[in-house]
Amino acid sequence: MTVLALETSCDETSAAIVRDGRVLANVVSSQIRLHADYGGVVPELATREHLRNLPVLTRAALRDAGVESRAVDAVAATRGPGLPNALMIGLKSAQAIAFALDRPFVGVHHHEAHLYSPWASGTPLRAEFEAFQPNVSLIASGGHTLLVRVRAELDHIVLGSTLDDAAGECFDKTAKLIGLPYPGGPEMDRLAEGGNARAFDFPRPLLHDAGDDFSFSGLKTSVRYFLQKHPGLLDDPQRVRDLCASVQAAIVEVLVGKTVRAAERLGVRCVTASGGVTCNRALRRQLEAACAASGLTLRLADARLCTDNAAMIGLLAERELLHGTAPDSLDAEIAPGWSLAG
Ligand code: KG4
Ligand code: ZN
Repeated sequence: MTVLALETSCDETSAAIVRDGRVLANVVSSQIRLHADYGGVVPELATREHLRNLPVLTRAALRDAGVESRAVDAVAATRGPGLPNALMIGLKSAQAIAFALDRPFVGVHHHEAHLYSPWASGTPLRAEFEAFQPNVSLIASGGHTLLVRVRAELDHIVLGSTLDDAAGECFDKTAKLIGLPYPGGPEMDRLAEGGNARAFDFPRPLLHDAGDDFSFSGLKTSVRYFLQKHPGLLDDPQRVRDLCASVQAAIVEVLVGKTVRAAERLGVRCVTASGGVTCNRALRRQLEAACAASGLTLRLADARLCTDNAAMIGLLAERELLHGTAPDSLDAEIAPGWSLAG
């Protein structure tokens, strides 16, 4: 089966071609530089960029894959959650293409696509669902932090989510306090590599709480107070690196600790992780170490699939169709607030 997939839920425009679990093409246009001047995503600008880029990227994906439009068997797009107008560009474009080609249309849940993305690896990327194991999965992105129990393919329940800021949001907001450019996560990661993670002690919110929820806004506030108490610190590049490493250590310890603990509590032998924050090198290293220490199999999303992309949308859409999920109607609407919890 050949699927053409589109993703426009936030600030990445992407088109992909997936055939029989293989990613034949995955083109992504990031708008990071466009939004950086504003310190965050400006929805109206994102929408205009999606509108401008999507036809070009769709053609590029077909060309890269060497696939003619008439060879496409199904068309998929992210239906939610995300920015309403941004979602509408991808969803309505996909429905129009499906109508023109007389093919089924699949509206995909963005987090569900992240959730199954760790099962794809290699070059070219290929989904290895034959290796699937029940797992506990961490989804850490800019807008969401979720801990999910995946009992079988397409059968999952949300164990916990963030009560306030997401992990990515915490990276971005604390980075802003430190004066780093948007988005702060990658910049914090880079500076933290040269810093001492034990230089400053920040809270590990809800790390020892019995539940599976997260909360990161208190950590951000404690960084703000810390900077008020140490006004000259940002003038010293080594202290800035130490600060980044210390903040990152707090976020990573909470994510790793709660994920591994949930797997052990539920007697699940496999852990997976996905979403933009999973690009973070300390998080990847510490998840590897903690899972190895607990005898857990770990599947981390490939770097090409961590941040937003249409390949993960196409991989999930194809899987849903193969499992017999009914296609969506050509006038299905966007679902900006769609929760993975159902
Ligand atoms: O999944 P994603 O691309 O978009 C959403 O669906 O939100 O995640 C973007 C988030 C941003 O908050 C960004 O700062 C964070 O992922 N991020 C990182 C790193 N790379 C991206 N955070 C920490 N370390 C990184 N290397
Ligand atoms: Zn995402």
